[in-house]
Amino acid sequence: MTTSVRVSVGGATLAVQVRGDGPPLLLVHGFPLDQSMWSHQLVAFSGWRRIAPDLRGAGASEAPPGEYSMARYADDLVMVLDAVGAKSAVCCGLSMGGYVLFELMRRHPERVRALILCDTKADADTPQGKQGRDELAALAEREGMAPVGERLLPKLLGRTTQARDQALVETVRAMVLRSPVTGVAGALRAMRDRPDSTALLGEIRVPTLVVGGAEDELTPPSVMQPMAQGIRGARYVEVPTAGHLCPLEQPDAVNEAVRDFLKGV
Ligand code: MLT
Repeated sequence: MTTSVRVSVGGATLAVQVRGDGPPLLLVHGFPLDQSMWSHQLVAFSGWRRIAPDLRGAGASEAPPGEYSMARYADDLVMVLDAVGAKSAVCCGLSMGGYVLFELMRRHPERVRALILCDTKADADTPQGKQGRDELAALAEREGMAPVGERLLPKLLGRTTQARDQALVETVRAMVLRSPVTGVAGALRAMRDRPDSTALLGEIRVPTLVVGGAEDELTPPSVMQPMAQGIRGARYVEVPTAGHLCPLEQPDAVNEAVRDFLKGV
């Protein structure tokens, strides 16, 4: 059974799904999504306490106006772990969720027992990328989520999913469209300003699994594989016929890789 809990963090209340008992497994979603992107992982991994928050400004969490940053998201996660009584967790993050976990590693390394990095990257935005973030944030604030969704959706899912799984395309579209504009604009500016985490890779000393979709165009295997090679002892798994959202697109393959990794943690 999944329990929904509300956790007060500085200036916002977060919605957090908690399922099962055992050592904690924290699931941190990507952008512009919410914890429901982990629906398959929340029902798998019995023997683990799965904890899936909506970050501030996402899903059913509050979206306060003001500054959003990787540091703030990371500090929020610490308050979530405190609220559910978890000293540390195996931390799994997808894309922006991975950026947040890099910050968690920098600020609160003692809370990270092991890392699972899905479809993410260590480097910061290029100047052109930063400009794109500003344009997208302005578009969201001016016109709402519909045009933002039109731009992002084709990049979020792999070509195989887009051709064969219309139901999943619609599920992800709905997730994007219900994202609060304040939180989306805040997340875009937080990603724009995130630090480069490349130097951190060589300092990671916890067991690490890197998982990426073979058809991911945002963080392709040519980015994910070298990132894994930069982390001591990291395992790399490439998931066939999946794009940027491989835990939703090919849950069986992702869950098998994660289950295998968790056995050794
Ligand atoms: C995500 O899925 O979180 C985003 O693609 C991250 C990004 O835009 O850099």
